Amino acid sequence: ITDPLVLFMPSGKRGRFPKGTPVLDAARQLGVYVESVCGGRATCGRCQVVVQEGNFAKHKIVSSNDHLSPKGPKEERYERVRGLPDGRRLSCSSTIEGDLVIDVPQDTVINAQVVRKAALDRVIERNPAVQLCYVEVDEPDMHKPLGDLDRLKVMLEKDWGWQDLLVSQHLLSDVQAILRKGEWGVTAAIHRDLDSSRPTIIALWPGLHNEAYGIACDIGSTTIAMHLVSLLSGRIVASSGASNPQIRFGEDLMSRVSYVMMNPDGREAMTSAVRSAVNELIEKVCAEGGVSTEDILDAVFVGNPIMHHLFLGIDPTELGQAPFALAVSGAVHTWGSELGLKINHGSRVYVLPCIAGHVGADAAAATLCEGPYRQDRMMLLVDVGTNAEIVLGNRQRVVAASSPTGPAFEGAEISSGQRAAPGAIERVRIDPATLEPKFRIIGSEKWSDEEGFADDAERLGITGICGSAIIEVVAEMYLSGIISEDGVVDGAMSAVSPRILQNGRTWSYLLHDGQPRITITQNDVRAIQLAKSALYAGIKLLMEKQGVDHVDTIRFAGAFGSFIDPKYAMVLGLIPDCDLAEVKAVGNAAGQGALMALLNRGHRREIEETVRRIEKIETALEPNFQQLFVNAMALPNKVDPFPKLAE
Ligand code: FES
Repeated sequence: ITDPLVLFMPSGKRGRFPKGTPVLDAARQLGVYVESVCGGRATCGRCQVVVQEGNFAKHKIVSSNDHLSPKGPKEERYERVRGLPDGRRLSCSSTIEGDLVIDVPQDTVINAQVVRKAALDRVIERNPAVQLCYVEVDEPDMHKPLGDLDRLKVMLEKDWGWQDLLVSQHLLSDVQAILRKGEWGVTAAIHRDLDSSRPTIIALWPGLHNEAYGIACDIGSTTIAMHLVSLLSGRIVASSGASNPQIRFGEDLMSRVSYVMMNPDGREAMTSAVRSAVNELIEKVCAEGGVSTEDILDAVFVGNPIMHHLFLGIDPTELGQAPFALAVSGAVHTWGSELGLKINHGSRVYVLPCIAGHVGADAAAATLCEGPYRQDRMMLLVDVGTNAEIVLGNRQRVVAASSPTGPAFEGAEISSGQRAAPGAIERVRIDPATLEPKFRIIGSEKWSDEEGFADDAERLGITGICGSAIIEVVAEMYLSGIISEDGVVDGAMSAVSPRILQNGRTWSYLLHDGQPRITITQNDVRAIQLAKSALYAGIKLLMEKQGVDHVDTIRFAGAFGSFIDPKYAMVLGLIPDCDLAEVKAVGNAAGQGALMALLNRGHRREIEETVRRIEKIETALEPNFQQLFVNAMALPNKVDPFPKLAE
């Protein structure tokens, strides 16, 4: 008779085990990560699993709850004292008695913000770099002079298999008091990230300690975003964001590099500003989640190369000029205390690798999240900021570049441009016959020609036009014939509408005749053309490197992508021709990639390996970039067709 077959979900790992094998042991043997703090004493409750009942014909398994041993006295005691949700079992205390399909609950789900299709939720399987291990240590014995710490290590090896343990220096002074306080029962936090590195005891608590958290943080030039996550359940406990205080040293990245170059203390000032903001955010998410900062044991950071360097305390000057040398491109493993983070003293920090001098750890994290390298289809991943980070590829090959789009897409350098904020115009339509516009502002649900809009406008004030609307208004001006393919505002249209105004030698379009007056000038159109040409030329260059003339799917990462309408992006030729249903905004993919790396150290190896394989293209050194740029100045493009747009 063959042994029962056990299939673990969601990993799909399976194997045969003799009857009577504890489910937790089976999981361990297959490399399925199931949390266990108490070491199978049925006291921590972390090892819970769910049996799926039914006939799984595809896997040739009939799974049923009674293929598991009945609850024993320990499990019943746990259920009485702590409660066990319906259908859940403690995997340490139940044994395999027949074929089983077992769900390992994973609380963290990545919820991609999808523009046109139903949300695709993806589960992050847990395998964190930090694990909690409860042990009962032998009391000291005059005849056996082994030290307290050494006896602790003996038990961690005996009960948990940890060999060759290192100990964080700061614990040496506390270990005796903690052991005695716990009456020789203690919980150790063990950190091991790389398989090749020695595991380290980084924290120690008296008794059973059942809380371990991590933070995943994306340091953007404008915004810092953070998730606080339970390393034991994978649950996101709190998420928050704050503006990057470095803005006071310069709006965009290059002005921050210049600040460092011009001011002797510039680097220190910016490093300490961003670290304080991170610490404040840690306090905020901890307060929100009711978590002690002392229970944060691991942290993952991502950011563009300049944010990455400044956060780590590295002078970014070299990134401001060719050849844009990174001080370090590989992943960084360090300690929270080294970075001045106000979390557990023994906490560890992991920073994702950077792809190139202009394509940072944020792009690496977005790549991890969206995974072009995991699929056969050609995926384009774009993160638009003042610098667009572009990744294009599939399972065979991935290439990456950055392109200097400038700040026009964020509303800077546009006469009435502003950041997205209440009162900013965010959507625009122009009637092609009368050239009369209608628009919507952030904070109101109504179009400007609808009843009730005036009240909202009065309350919010119409303040300017934000990045998403700039794209729409220029695209609508093109579609209604106000601007030509070359992007010239056509003065002859003034015969059709009084909204076409002369402005010296050029013409503008009056979008809103109020206080302030909002016009789209010839210079505004030019600024958008320059930005979109830079983006498109960068994308096109990567497509040429890949030898493809179309992409199968497009992912917009970052805030910008969440607000723009892909149709208008294509009308203007920001992005190449693609089935519109395949163009998706994925929100903060960098933050989600950081979360994946926090919860599963396997993802760290995966992205490190991928980044090594990605071919980096420096747009400035490519001879045909200039020609691609010139072609892309036309709307939507001088040479490239957009057949999907016509459909
Ligand atoms: Fe702690 Fe099962 S491992 S309850």
